[in-house]
Amino acid sequence: MRIGVPKETSEGENRVAATPDSIKRFLSKNKGIQFLIETGAGDRAHFSDESYKAVGAEIVDRKTALSAKIVLKVNRLESDDISGLSKDSLVISLIDPFSDDGYLENLSKSGASAIGLELIPRISRAQSMDVLSSQANIAGYRAVLEASNRFGRFFPMMMTSAGSARPAKVIILGVGVAGLQAIATAKRLGANVEAFDVRPEVKEQVQSLGAKFIEIDLGESGAGEGGYAKELSEEAKARQEAGLAEKMKTADIIITTALIPGRPAPVLIKSAVVEGMRHGSVIVDLAAPNGGNCELTEKGVVTTKHGIIIVGVTNFVSLMPSDSSDFFARNLTNLLALVIKAGETPEMVLDLEDEIIAGSLAVHNGEVRFKKK
Ligand code: NAI
Repeated sequence: MRIGVPKETSEGENRVAATPDSIKRFLSKNKGIQFLIETGAGDRAHFSDESYKAVGAEIVDRKTALSAKIVLKVNRLESDDISGLSKDSLVISLIDPFSDDGYLENLSKSGASAIGLELIPRISRAQSMDVLSSQANIAGYRAVLEASNRFGRFFPMMMTSAGSARPAKVIILGVGVAGLQAIATAKRLGANVEAFDVRPEVKEQVQSLGAKFIEIDLGESGAGEGGYAKELSEEAKARQEAGLAEKMKTADIIITTALIPGRPAPVLIKSAVVEGMRHGSVIVDLAAPNGGNCELTEKGVVTTKHGIIIVGVTNFVSLMPSDSSDFFARNLTNLLALVIKAGETPEMVLDLEDEIIAGSLAVHNGEVRFKKK
């Protein structure tokens, strides 16, 4: 069976969907598999064609990579690529399921099936396949480094002969995967860290990392299905805004990661709060790709408004392309183990009785299975 890995084409994307390490591990446990890597696919993540050849992969042109039985990608395919897919093949990639631009319909006409990595259920068995988590972890880490680079002061307390500096005050809003890693990273750098989330159950996790949980009585829980948040009522939103406003004005750094799947990012930092912050403070808005948690964030750029540096960078994971590709690729090979029936002649089997496949198979048998709720 052939598994193709085309080069990523989106602007600013440095990752690749299979790395020499992931291929080596996979081939050590599976027979009869040939990886076809498009020339230069790993270049931007610092994996040379030679490093792929060294683990037994073949370097091919794009057309050949796309013609494989299973195609691994980070992002969606280009529309021109879809016509090059083999009938009855499977594409595994992020699919941006909530955008209404006909991508899944186009894919369904090709006869290929597609697994959308965003749709993998957040259950324990699927943790090792969850690219959203592996990548958000990296983004949370990198967001704190970005903040510390742009901040004109120390993160840790510093005592020197020239005087002392107090530790930076960092607030993390949204304590999912990215938020937890941001807390851990800011603590490692010596900052005072406080965090808030609408799901009360994360309080213990915040405290176990040595940070303080900001208590706000929302009058309801923001916990939704599957470990995600749900949208708050207008009353709860107002309570959150009032509870956070004064705290945020005293923060040196705010990292926001609040997300509700399939919805625009909730706005947690209004312009008036930014105006009240100390000049030189930094906001890193990880929700910038979904509209931003701060009213003043501009997607994809770093701006200074009212003296506050607002980071709307959207490709944090691509700034660490080697590790992010390795993690992404390992998630994919773990998923491959579910869709490939091993043996002398391996076969692809899409078992709809399996909760993970049933949940994530967005296109199958010429039909778009994914339905927006
Ligand atoms: P997650 O779902 O694990 O965490 C999001 C958290 O936000 C949840 O704990 C949820 O309860 C919380 N939340 C929702 N509404 C809230 C509110 N009103 N106030 C406070 N907390 C609220 O998501 P994950 O995987 O940690 O991703 C976080 C964000 O980072 C997402 O927006 C994601 O798109 C983004 N991201 C950005 C990257 C970049 O390069 N900019 C890369 C990877 C992820």
